[in-house]
Amino acid sequence: MKILKTLDDLRQFQNFVKAEANASLGFVPTMGALHQGHLSLLNRAVKENSFAALSIYVNPTQFNQVSDFEKYPSTLEQDLAMAKNAGISAVFLPNYDLIYPDQYQFRIVAPELTNILCGRFRPGHFDGVLTVVNKLFQLVQPAHSYFGEKDYQQLVLIKKMTEAFYLPTKIIPVPTVRESSGLAMSSRNVRLSAEGKKQAALIYKALNDSKTLTETRDLLEKNHFEVEYVEEHFGRRFTAAWLEGVRLIDNIPLGNMGSI
Ligand code: PAJ
Repeated sequence: MKILKTLDDLRQFQNFVKAEANASLGFVPTMGALHQGHLSLLNRAVKENSFAALSIYVNPTQFNQVSDFEKYPSTLEQDLAMAKNAGISAVFLPNYDLIYPDQYQFRIVAPELTNILCGRFRPGHFDGVLTVVNKLFQLVQPAHSYFGEKDYQQLVLIKKMTEAFYLPTKIIPVPTVRESSGLAMSSRNVRLSAEGKKQAALIYKALNDSKTLTETRDLLEKNHFEVEYVEEHFGRRFTAAWLEGVRLIDNIPLGNMGSI
């Protein structure tokens, strides 16, 4: 497994991929602190491509709270071991100067779609996400890129951005991986206490068991969550709620309605 830190490292890896006839490169962008949810993306990328690359970069421009950025967990050694076991060919570990030689003066401005769900509560968040993902696509040049349905609004925006800019990569959605309790895996779950983690499983249950949006909200509020939103879009029900100072998000499909 190659570790890529510079533009030269990247170019060398791309030449290595191109040297193989009809080789395809699969790509999984992440912010590290990898868990089973990330692993399912890695497994898909390895299985469906000749080579698979992972990027780990905690992108400061998408954090709208400095404290959330500073508290973001980092487990690099473990992440590299997981990537190696999964059969990843290269891990891209860029730094700020490589990603933002312009100091974030040029950016992608996320469209209207940003005024719903997380976009409404996290100003500037999706501008940062789209800008970094666009740059990562330009740098890595993957044929296929894998994104989790856990962050569904992110997935939709990235898919629309690749269409709008004719970016030559195909976006592949991957279903949400959950703990046996139903709790959606997330790097932020490690900031919950054992009790909090049990309690957090109620989010998935509340999404599934309630008939209306109000019912979902009431159930969560009764159980001491601070609810940011419960909304339905794209044939799915979404919620974001705070527990023990940790912001948790989840969504489920409603029947067989829309998918992207
Ligand atoms: P991160 O939160 O590290 O997530 C990386 C990818 O893993 C995303 O596509 C996310 O949807 C997926 N993922 C996370 N938890 C998952 C789960 N339980 N099941 C399935 N997939 C899951 O999302 C980001 O990083 C960043 O915004 C990024 C796209 C890397 C841009 O900085």
